[in-house]
Amino acid sequence: MILITGAAGYIGSHFLSHFLEHSKEPVIALDDLSSGRRDFIPSQVPFHEVTLSDSAQVEKIFKDHPIRSIVHFAAFLSVEESVREPAKYYANNLVNTANLARVARMNGVREFIFSSTCAIYGNEGQGAVNESTEKKPITPYGWSKFLSEQALFGESELAHQASQEFKVASLRYFNVAGAHPNGKLGQAHAQLEPLVRRAAKAACGKIPSLEIFGTHYPTRDGTCIRDYIHVMDLASLHAEALSQLRSDSGNFAVNAGYGYGYTVREVIEQMKTVSGVNFSVNEAPERSGDIVEIYADTTEMKKRFPAWKPKYDSLREICESAYLWEKKLN
Ligand SMILES: NC(=O)c1ccc[n+]([C@@H]2O[C@H](COP(=O)([O-])OP(=O)(O)OC[C@H]3O[C@@H](n4cnc5c(N)ncnc54)[C@H](O)[C@@H]3O)[C@@H](O)[C@H]2O)c1
Repeated sequence: MILITGAAGYIGSHFLSHFLEHSKEPVIALDDLSSGRRDFIPSQVPFHEVTLSDSAQVEKIFKDHPIRSIVHFAAFLSVEESVREPAKYYANNLVNTANLARVARMNGVREFIFSSTCAIYGNEGQGAVNESTEKKPITPYGWSKFLSEQALFGESELAHQASQEFKVASLRYFNVAGAHPNGKLGQAHAQLEPLVRRAAKAACGKIPSLEIFGTHYPTRDGTCIRDYIHVMDLASLHAEALSQLRSDSGNFAVNAGYGYGYTVREVIEQMKTVSGVNFSVNEAPERSGDIVEIYADTTEMKKRFPAWKPKYDSLREICESAYLWEKKLN
């Protein structure tokens, strides 16, 4: 049996959908619906509306169910908010993750998959970053994820010393975008608007225009470059990570991106093409601290998952699915 935390959120719901389609193993979903949606969880999946800070409720779930593995998506993820309210991020992302890991280990959980982020590399990476790039997060959000990785690997070490098995895989996501081709799942977070989502909103007329922050960077068209990974491919990557952990693999941390980036202008042009809407775009000054160009070095990912092939790795596919989803979303 696996437990998915944050299953009512954007990435968690896509993983849940992938898992239900490809596995017969029982699954339970946990989410406090702080940003997730109840309707993202199919009615046949046992759902616990529980917040991770409620240790008694969390422990009860482990007492009541024979959970073998956890895929842990639940977290807060607004970088800007984390700068304004750091304690909120350390409490939910770090403290709750560390507690979940401890309770999980004590209840015999054997595999734990964690949603990490390229934000742990901070500004150290310009261009391709690999897993050994120095970790220098520049925001509380990035720190909360980096420290969570440390807490998880520490818990695994503790288990090892006690001759128990508690293996950890940390997937360091780059920019997750796109939506499920079934049209029923996508990004719906009320406060979060990363570029692809914002471009989709502009194409749908939900916002009057789109800003580009900085147009004189030393890139092919002067705008920043990011590595966008389709959420469906990210979902299947989690399934690969789980089977790796269940085979003879030890702990690992791996980048989750495609290994190349697109500029802000390229994303905007693609969104205009797939939507057929020539929405207005404003050029705004650079934002301080923005990284010029970052994308995943995928050498380690390819070595670790030689059989895994992305199926949705085109900017067109990402923008089209995001646009169709946004159009349906009220
Ligand atoms: N979206 C991205 O581009 C991106 C990039 C890097 C990493 N991540 C990480 O991926 C994970 C999932 O992100 P997402 O985009 O699906 O976000 P999301 O907000 O859509 O999903 C997170 C889910 O967790 C739930 N949640 C939050 N705190 C909780 C708590 N204390 N107890 C129970 N449930 C709680 C929310 O209700 C929500 O359903 C996060 O850990 C995030 O840091 C996301």
